[in-house]
Amino acid sequence: MKPQNKEYSENYLFNDLKGLCLISPTDSVKPIFEPKIRLGILASGNGSNFEYIIKAIKNNQLNAEITILIVNNPDCLAINKAIKYNINYVIINHRICDSRLEHDNLVMNKLEELSVELVVMAGWMRIVGERLINRFKNRLINIHPSLLPSFKGIDAIQQAIDKRVKITGCTVHYVQKEVDSGSIIIQAAIPIKQDDSKETLTKRIQEMEHIILPLAIAKVAKDIRTIVRDNK
Ligand code: GAR
Repeated sequence: MKPQNKEYSENYLFNDLKGLCLISPTDSVKPIFEPKIRLGILASGNGSNFEYIIKAIKNNQLNAEITILIVNNPDCLAINKAIKYNINYVIINHRICDSRLEHDNLVMNKLEELSVELVVMAGWMRIVGERLINRFKNRLINIHPSLLPSFKGIDAIQQAIDKRVKITGCTVHYVQKEVDSGSIIIQAAIPIKQDDSKETLTKRIQEMEHIILPLAIAKVAKDIRTIVRDNK
């Protein structure tokens, strides 16, 4: 049952999910900032997070424009979403690069060429090097399907199932050199049900990812805008 205490219940943001999740912090529900932030999205997979960023922009929940989708994999389904929503995209295939540095540089050059202000890894399955990380310091964020610092790296959802934890979740964090280790921006906690399969749990985690990623983008964008104003 959902607790009735006011302060506590305010943390249950999304009643339609029947209290089956907890998002924190909740101060980032709709940060206001101007002008629009220029986003670069990096993706390797289905692109559902990419699509929910687009929806958040279309619904006026996020004051942003997506200047480019960069994918590293030519078969990535995120491309279909870019086509559907008429968003500029480019394939920078890591398999045709001689080194990680060469791939990172191609990605970085494209982001710089388009004056991207905030880079969002939305299902990006590649480690990036220090040069790119430093170039976008405090402006490069990633979404990961676990309650970090638990279950870093690949197949985080299966890792949580294997460890038989009772609560898992998803995290948006700044990217730093060590994988899945940068400071945490926002998290959602999700109970694991006894009869959960990897598929059912993945579905619930992704529903929460689609909510917290736009919130995290808005929170970081507001910080970027505030820092720019303070420096003027
Ligand atoms: C998301 O669940 C995201 O958290 C995960 O990949 C999925 C991409 O889904 N990312 C990682 O595991 C990164 N370590 P999508 O392509 O449908 O947005």
